[in-house]
Amino acid sequence: MLDLLLHNACLPDGRQNMSVAVQDGRIVEVAPGLQAPATETVDAGGLLLSPPFVDVHFHMDATLTYGMPRVNASGTLLEGIALWGELKPSLTVDAIIERALSYCDWAVARGLLAIRSHVDTSDPRLLAVEALLEVKKRVAPYIDLQLVAFPQDGVIRTQGGLDSLKRALDMGVDVVGGIPHFERTMADGATSVKLLCEIAAERGKMVDMHCDESDDPLSRHIESLACQTQRLGLHGRVTGSHLTSMHSMDNYYVSKLMGLMVEAQVHVASNPCVNITLQGRFDTYPKRRGLTRVPELMAAGLTVAFGQDDMMDPWYALGSADMLEVASMGLHVAHMTSQSAMRQCFDAITTNPAKILDLPGYGLEKGCYADFVLLQARDPVEAIRLRATRLQVYRRGKRIAHTPAATASLDMPGRPLTTSFMK
Ligand code: FE2
Repeated sequence: MLDLLLHNACLPDGRQNMSVAVQDGRIVEVAPGLQAPATETVDAGGLLLSPPFVDVHFHMDATLTYGMPRVNASGTLLEGIALWGELKPSLTVDAIIERALSYCDWAVARGLLAIRSHVDTSDPRLLAVEALLEVKKRVAPYIDLQLVAFPQDGVIRTQGGLDSLKRALDMGVDVVGGIPHFERTMADGATSVKLLCEIAAERGKMVDMHCDESDDPLSRHIESLACQTQRLGLHGRVTGSHLTSMHSMDNYYVSKLMGLMVEAQVHVASNPCVNITLQGRFDTYPKRRGLTRVPELMAAGLTVAFGQDDMMDPWYALGSADMLEVASMGLHVAHMTSQSAMRQCFDAITTNPAKILDLPGYGLEKGCYADFVLLQARDPVEAIRLRATRLQVYRRGKRIAHTPAATASLDMPGRPLTTSFMK
């Protein structure tokens, strides 16, 4: 007897009328029209069953602090960092935990069941680290939370920055982060990349570094990151986050840089909602779009994922743990409007970030964890277009959230009574 049999589902790869059989928290079969006795049977109604959404890049220690102590007037990255610095002395472990848990509730409701969050290690008290390690433990039954030791104020620029980062890793933080473009000079930035990659290599950790998050066409930290990845043999374990300066770099230089990135198998995390608002702030017209070269990086064979980055914090006033909103923004800003490119945008919030996080048992295949989301859409493109309702969210074969279908009632005579916006 199966624990759960879900039938009549579409899958993101286009297969229709598929059944998914679940036993002991794992998928034991995926096949068309399966029939078998099960404790629970669910009719998917021909709708899209997706593996859970994955956020490759987030800052959970800052989430839900919008307006504390004031809002970011210039809308720039640098004012956001300064504002976060003003807020830090008043942070408490309990308040960070409470806000993070609220965010995680929203994430579960949105079918977002794996998150890589950077956690600021610049404050030697490491309050945010203590808080998010506690959150990671508490949400483990329903969210895979991976933490990155992130020296927000610069690992070299901050006195004791390297020591604090190492202590965070000792406490159990998973991944080594960095912010070379915020070090005092390009040379210090390159030194920080080298130091941090060496720490990761010594400790067997993955790396995820904020890199070149600026409009400066001469910023070169992703080049250093690719080079250190190659030198230390960290292939496939290193992610460059943001990489926004790539939009402004000289095309000849990028043709060389992309080769280095491919050689090192560096992954890419792009954060469209946040970078379309933070970047280009010093431009008049035309204004640059502030997103890295997503389709070109994908075409080169690199793994590219879209992240939320911020939600209601010093850098971004909006967001609601909705990765379909993030994919929609990425699609628009990167001109990814062909059918295949729109599907790639869906991959950028599901399978691609799962690969970057190295999530075990992710996917809709036999042997994977029974984690999935039933969406009120028939395919990935419709899911992005509608930011489709997450009708049912499952973790290890058990339903952990559900939302009523979105339908509008019409009061006009002679027209249908309801519409769900599906074609
Ligand atoms: Fe970030």
